Amino acid sequence: AQESRIAALVAAMTLDEKLGQMTQIAGGRQIALNSRLDAAALDRVRAGRVGSFLHVAGAEPLLALQRVAVEESRLGIPLLFAMDVVHGYRTIFPVPLAMAASFDPDVARQASRVAAVESSVSGLHWTFAPMIDIARDARWGRVVEGAGEDPYLGARIAVAQIEGFQTADLDNPDAMLACAKHIGAYGAAIGGRDYDSAELSERTLRETYLAPFHAASNAGVGTMMTAFNDLAGVPTTGNADLVRGILRQEWGYQGLVVSDWNAIKELMAHGAAATPAEAAALALRASVDMDMTSDTYADHLGTAVAADPTLLPLVDEAVGRILAAKARLGLFDDPFRFGDAARQRVVLGSAEHRAAARRAAQRSIVLLRNEGEVLPIAAGRRIALIGALADDASSTLGSWRARGRAEESVTLRQALGEAGNVDYVPGAEPRSDDTSGIADAVAAANRADVVVVALGEDYDYSGEARSRSDITLPGAQTALIEALRATGKPVVAVLMNGRPLALEDALADIPAVVETWFLGNESGHAIADVLLGRISPAGRLPMGIPRRSGQMPMFYAHPPTGRPADPDLAVDSARYRDVDIGPLFPFGHGLSYGRFAYSGLQVAAQDAGEAARYTVALNVRNTGTVAADEVVQLYVRAPVAGLARPVKELRGFARVPLAPGQSRRVTFMLGSDQFAHWDDGWKVAAGDVDIMVGSSSEDIRQTAVLTVPRSYPLADGAM
Ligand code: IFM
Repeated sequence: AQESRIAALVAAMTLDEKLGQMTQIAGGRQIALNSRLDAAALDRVRAGRVGSFLHVAGAEPLLALQRVAVEESRLGIPLLFAMDVVHGYRTIFPVPLAMAASFDPDVARQASRVAAVESSVSGLHWTFAPMIDIARDARWGRVVEGAGEDPYLGARIAVAQIEGFQTADLDNPDAMLACAKHIGAYGAAIGGRDYDSAELSERTLRETYLAPFHAASNAGVGTMMTAFNDLAGVPTTGNADLVRGILRQEWGYQGLVVSDWNAIKELMAHGAAATPAEAAALALRASVDMDMTSDTYADHLGTAVAADPTLLPLVDEAVGRILAAKARLGLFDDPFRFGDAARQRVVLGSAEHRAAARRAAQRSIVLLRNEGEVLPIAAGRRIALIGALADDASSTLGSWRARGRAEESVTLRQALGEAGNVDYVPGAEPRSDDTSGIADAVAAANRADVVVVALGEDYDYSGEARSRSDITLPGAQTALIEALRATGKPVVAVLMNGRPLALEDALADIPAVVETWFLGNESGHAIADVLLGRISPAGRLPMGIPRRSGQMPMFYAHPPTGRPADPDLAVDSARYRDVDIGPLFPFGHGLSYGRFAYSGLQVAAQDAGEAARYTVALNVRNTGTVAADEVVQLYVRAPVAGLARPVKELRGFARVPLAPGQSRRVTFMLGSDQFAHWDDGWKVAAGDVDIMVGSSSEDIRQTAVLTVPRSYPLADGAM
């Protein structure tokens, strides 16, 4: 019935009304904050010349705006209201990179669910999240928005986020459309410079950068966004091979594709189109359904269609997909089902949502180093808390904070203060070279039993257009940590940042290091929970932490070389001469207050033949004295496959809660598609596959080998 309703509507629409549906305009502050609707925007709505608004929110203004569309436009087609609700709407959860560090898809699912509940009651239908771009260069500011360097972890977290935003069928008044973005290897920008080109082999594109998008497509994500960048010279927003070819034809994706902000117009700046009409035609041919803010479809696609009527069926297809997205949300049955001013007051920032945010924050913290068991800090110890970031409520919210409020965040200073016995001194700030506060910090350290120093970047160092060439500690923080080290007191470095920082020098001889990212409203409570031992940390790094900026890009799943990195500088090998080999802390690394023993790894084929599946099972035991989670990680490698395969690739993980002395058998299912590679099609190579299970990419505890009897092609290599 929906299909014939949509077909009838498309048949009834004028070309201008169709181009209107394909147009998204920015609502801006007027709609979002003041409930005053812009007169020109309202006239466009009445004329049926707009299909969607972005950067809007609030039940009352959005219901009023919807009423204009439904009651005053010729066809009464409801509008779609969109916003970047990335890690919370009012209740702010950890930034996405932090949630990936939980290695717990339930955390990501729950955060997205809460965000959808709060957004939908505020009148929103659509979020531009999750961002599922793989990022292997921490100079890129948007690493904070994704799940890090690994496509398998990225795909699992992406699917969980989509499930959380959309629920099972989207036909639910507290579900919202998710948007997998930005298809086209946006995270592979050369040099980590936002918006710059990506230049990749098809193998790397398929196996690494597209893998989470393929998983998102299979999970039924309602919408996708194309990337700003060009890929080997072809701007993604006009890339028919990628969007119409791989995404639509190969993967069968039927959802709505939206451009990024102004990106259709920017096809001209890329040199892909000479006129706005050409740009519009290029994007339409690529199968981009909706134009975010550039008005190129609204103002120029008509010219292109007049010159080339074969574009008209493509317009109809695009409009059909936009109307289908509205239908999936139930907007044709009840355009006002989202947005409820009374419930908004009860739901936003509720105690239940805060509790979920605290749990997510606890689970996202990564204990990187704990020499001499400085942590947890025993009760009664005098703590010197140093660092401006320890009391920076705004930074707890990270980038994309929707309607989050800094005054509703708990800082580390507040949370540790509740525990008593804390002397706080800012000492130094990320944005200032002023060292005059360091003397007071040193004096406080000298009076204390243990020093806790918050170090890193404030929230505005990472995010869109926030690339940096040097990812060391900014401002006077290096001088601060040097001075604190010189006191000889035990120092706990609490890192706060939206990207991995290059910290080899800064962290030298610092016995305890905790990575806390930006953890949202419950930041301080969660960090204090870990520092004081109320919980055991179990987060793991979703991106390795480098020693130096010059190691970027860096990733654990690199191919082997004929001359592997050798510690002996007399050997010519694949390394830098002026820095030790590898990361400071590797992908998957994270310590615990518990201890774990691995044993009994067994690999068994479930069925022979070409769709072979294997079970990989082992025992994990908590041999420590506290309850703790262990994150068990499964890596694979095909050592001889006729071409160079990565030295290790994550293909399974499980966050396992264990009481002291408790043992569990952990089982992974491994499909042959998980060790296939792209070679003009997906293939499984004959030969051995190494199975490695451990506590991080560099802490492998158990190994086994399975053998593939002969090579064969696979229809699909999705993870
Ligand atoms: O969703 C974002 C995108 O990630 C970057 N450009 C702007 C969009 C809308 O805010």
